Parts: sequence; structure tokens; C-alpha cells
Amino acid sequence: MSRPLTHIQRLATALGLGLTLSLTGPAAYAQRSALREVRTTGSAGAIWAVSLLFGWTLIGWGIALVWALVMFFMMPYWHIYGKQNLSSEAYRTTPEMYTQKVQAMVDKYTIRTETARNMPVVRPPAGADVYMLGRLWEWYPALELEKDQTYRLHLSSVDWQHGFSLQPENINVQVIPGYEMVMKITPNKSGEFSVICNEYCGIGHHQMIGKIYVK
Ligand code: CUA
Repeated sequence: MSRPLTHIQRLATALGLGLTLSLTGPAAYAQRSALREVRTTGSAGAIWAVSLLFGWTLIGWGIALVWALVMFFMMPYWHIYGKQNLSSEAYRTTPEMYTQKVQAMVDKYTIRTETARNMPVVRPPAGADVYMLGRLWEWYPALELEKDQTYRLHLSSVDWQHGFSLQPENINVQVIPGYEMVMKITPNKSGEFSVICNEYCGIGHHQMIGKIYVK
């Protein structure tokens, strides 16, 4: 089952090959002239250093470069075809401003609390702006959304970088203090979804689990 390459794939391949070749050529040339120079004037140590720099490590650099380029071009690819990285808007904010917005929603629409932490479960009206906040070490609050309704989901952190990873859907968003990310979501399956943190953020990282209920 082979499919013709897309424009992006063709472009990525051409760029990757082009860059690798254009870097390997000059490096191979530089190796020869540098070695000649070092052999006539330099010490054994210098020869060893030049050989190391331009010799086998070059292959390692080449592989690393190609891999880096593959990953670089996979980002737009995953965005378009993988539906993992949602299209989002980003705004500047502060931890105080963002906390206020989240708390306003929590005060207005909390329907119950759960777990030992008394985590509020918030059910905003269909189509509303909904907020989730990442902090050491929780996603606050839990959300309850209606199936097939579209919401604007806002995300930010009030301390440092966290990763919003919606499971089992595998939607991933970086959550960074100072920035408010907004994305449109339309939950199309009902059930209980977990938000795990996939950016290591300290001793309680593994306990940073949030909830989104879809009914
Ligand atoms: Cu938050 Cu890891």
C-alpha cells in the first residue's frame, strides 16, 4: 500500500538530502587540507583532534542532522495529518490574570467536587469559553463538557512549563506561563478523559492528572 508522496514529504526529502550533501562536501574537503596542514607542522595530538573532528564523527553528525530535519518536518505533518497538535491562538497573560479568569468560571459553574483535594468539577454552558490551569501539581479544575458541542478551551500555567496531554485521544499542547493558549474543541465521544502532564515538572509530575468528562 504505497501512496504518492505529498508536497510536504517531497520538500522535506529534497531539503534533507540537499543540506546533508552540501555540508558533507565542504567538510570532506576541509578534512584533507586540514590534515595536510597538521601533518607538516603539527603534533600527534593535533592530528588526533582533526581526525576525530572530521572523521567518523562526521557520519554521526550527518545522521543527527538528517534525524533532526525529519523531526522538524514531521511537526507540520503531525499538525495536518495526525490531528495531535491543534491549531491554537496564543495571548500574553500573567499568572494573576489567568488565575482570576479560571476562578471566575469555577465560582460560577461548579456542580460538584471530587477526590481528596476537593477538586471542583465545572460544567460551563455549551459553546462557552472553558479554562484549565496547570500548576505544581494539578490540572485545575476538572471540566464537564457536552458531547458534540464546541468550546474554546483556554490553557495556561501559573508556575512553569507543563504539558497538556489528553488521554486516550493523544492530543498534546505545551502549557507555558505567561501565555494563554486557546483552541476550539468539539468532544465527539462521551466518557472520562484524563489530562496527564507530559513535561517533567518536578517531584509531583506523575501525580499531575486532570479530568475532562464528556456527557
Ligand atoms: Cu506538570 Cu509534569
